[in-house]
Amino acid sequence: MDRDLSLEYLKVTEAAAIAAAKLIGNGDRKKADALAVEAMRKMFDQVPIAGTVVIGEGEIDQAPMLYIGEAVGTGQGPEVDIAVDPLEGTNLVAKGMPGAIVCLAVAPKDCFLHAPDMYMDKIAVGPEAAGKIDITRSVADNIRAVALAKNKKVEDITVICLERDRHDQIIAEARAIGARVHLIADGDVAAALACAAPDSGIDIMLGIGGAPEGVLAAAGLKSLGGELQGKLAPRNEKEIERAISMGTDPEKILLMDDLVKSEDVQFISTGVTSGDFLQGLKYAADGSIITYSIIINGRDKKTRYVQTIHR
Ligand code: FBP
Repeated sequence: MDRDLSLEYLKVTEAAAIAAAKLIGNGDRKKADALAVEAMRKMFDQVPIAGTVVIGEGEIDQAPMLYIGEAVGTGQGPEVDIAVDPLEGTNLVAKGMPGAIVCLAVAPKDCFLHAPDMYMDKIAVGPEAAGKIDITRSVADNIRAVALAKNKKVEDITVICLERDRHDQIIAEARAIGARVHLIADGDVAAALACAAPDSGIDIMLGIGGAPEGVLAAAGLKSLGGELQGKLAPRNEKEIERAISMGTDPEKILLMDDLVKSEDVQFISTGVTSGDFLQGLKYAADGSIITYSIIINGRDKKTRYVQTIHR
């Protein structure tokens, strides 16, 4: 990728966050998502790229905007693939709960895994424990490996996990060896990235969430030097066929280079409600809006935290 367009992408995530935040606590998750999608789509029109959405809101017949295959950007500029989650944590916004973000990732063409819309089993860690985890091993083995890599006691390791019945076993195993368990209602992209964020206090993410979210999280973790391993978790024959038709063997362990091929990847995210990964948007007394974002740049390996005051 040529010119650094990260500030252009930042405007896209900020616009979606501002739009979604209007519905914090309003109870209508679909509307919050729709506002974010619309704002993101509109702002993309100003970005000088010939972009193609490869991870988005669904197939063309399911989503009016930001559907898979949709062209975004001005059409003049680098040809790039785009992965988006205009609102990660729709329920979190609807209920005014922590951890909702807007995020997008950009890479040269054909670098993102074209993840089918199904579940993925995931394990994620930050840079200190990258290379030390193995999704085929037990929860206890992985937690111990992270503790060793971070020179911590197992009791000082915090596991983040979506609070779902399907994770009862993971939670029980983590508790059994004395690790701390931080349960979240939604939002496993932010959870995975929190493993690599300084001072988040989160060491490892475990559990099953969306496959597209797995690719987005891997895009952010790649430039941060972290690691995510995944395995598709299809629930029926139809999903198995779907995975195969999209070119992914459902049995394959997906490593970082399977999820995101290039190092030249950018991940941009803006907080909507405050969480472990990013601060949420604030309404200042003078009527302005303050957004908190992160720009993770694979090319120069720099991470920038950006606070923007929108007057
Ligand atoms: P949405 O923002 O699309 O509602 O997704 C939230 C989320 O928690 C993701 O972060 C996660 O990957 C997925 O849903 C988990 O799915 P489920 O709620 O079915 O367990």
